Amino acid sequence: MDNQVIIFDTTLRDGEQALNASLSVNEKLQIAQAIERLGVDIMEVGFPVSSPGDFESVQKIAQTVKNSRVCALARAVEADIKACADALKPADQFRIHTFISTSDVHVQHKLKKEFTDVEAMAVHAVKYARQFTDDVEFSCEDAGRTPIDNLCRMVEKAIDAGATTVNIPDTVGYTLPFEFQGIIEQLFNRVPNIDKAVISVHCHNDLGLAVANSMAAVQAGARQIECTVNGIGERAGNCSLEEVAMIMKTRESLLNVHTNINHHEIARTSKMVSTLCNMPVQPNKAIVGGNAFSHSSGIHQDGMLKASNTYEIMTPESVGISKTKLNLTSRSGRHVIKHRMETLGYKDTDYVLDDLYADFLALADKKGQVFDDDLEAILFNKQQQEAD
Ligand code: KIV
Ligand code: ZN
Repeated sequence: MDNQVIIFDTTLRDGEQALNASLSVNEKLQIAQAIERLGVDIMEVGFPVSSPGDFESVQKIAQTVKNSRVCALARAVEADIKACADALKPADQFRIHTFISTSDVHVQHKLKKEFTDVEAMAVHAVKYARQFTDDVEFSCEDAGRTPIDNLCRMVEKAIDAGATTVNIPDTVGYTLPFEFQGIIEQLFNRVPNIDKAVISVHCHNDLGLAVANSMAAVQAGARQIECTVNGIGERAGNCSLEEVAMIMKTRESLLNVHTNINHHEIARTSKMVSTLCNMPVQPNKAIVGGNAFSHSSGIHQDGMLKASNTYEIMTPESVGISKTKLNLTSRSGRHVIKHRMETLGYKDTDYVLDDLYADFLALADKKGQVFDDDLEAILFNKQQQEAD
């Protein structure tokens, strides 16, 4: 089995769906270009039938982006698929992604149909989409809650109809990693034509398991992960692109899979998406949170000064952040203060470490974090007192 995992970014479709205010065409183009620099294999950039603005942005991105394949979403109906084909036409090569629900709850209550009708719609949609492109993805919406026999049937029929990628979404983020891995394993064991398509996964984060479920699926043979920058998306969001990319880079020798992601672009892309989407990133978010490479306790800071791999499993530079931050707080020890003074250009003989440290601690107790300017102010005050 191929050991490259295809990264399918859906920041501008599933991610954008969850924003309070939609992005302008130019903002979407700016984000698409950043995602292209990030090295994603495929980007899903909208749902063209949904509005003229969405159609225009998909068209603009299809005209501009050259190094990632561009894709758009369609329900399993001809009008949606035709809108995708029209909007994507300017691209040299493009993907149409069509979907329909397969779980009992969706089939009965949302679609109000029989499963056999849904199967027929899926087959027709895939065949119709294949008239416009040879790259067609089919998704079984709410696959995570679909009875496995129905899921196997649907996957087999979609592949027979011409789907080149079949996506298994955990639409409501309900499954657990061992369970989701089991679903993918069963598909590989039971669907006779499974090797004719790439199996993809699309996990939501309602239980905080989107990344774990995606990685479990890769272990079972899935070779495409659908994800968004900063994990933005419906409700608790989607699988986070930067997390799966760095898991596969940091643990490559164990997992034996890799991606094409240019990881040095991660921090910059994350900042752009957070700013333009007006979606702040929580400080303790893995990889891109403000604290992801900062160390506060004295013991950790001391370790970091001795060897950076004592408390860091990847370097901040590897994701495009300039350096590790050692926060100066009341938990910081003398070592860190001495090191920071050296960084600021002071020699040991410029200050008495015990005195400086005592004043630093008093200030840290009052104000929490002490910054470089504060440290220098302490030093200047001390020098002033000595001169008086
Ligand atoms: O979550 C989901 O099931 C989706 C599909 C349209 C792929 O976003
Ligand atoms: Zn989704």
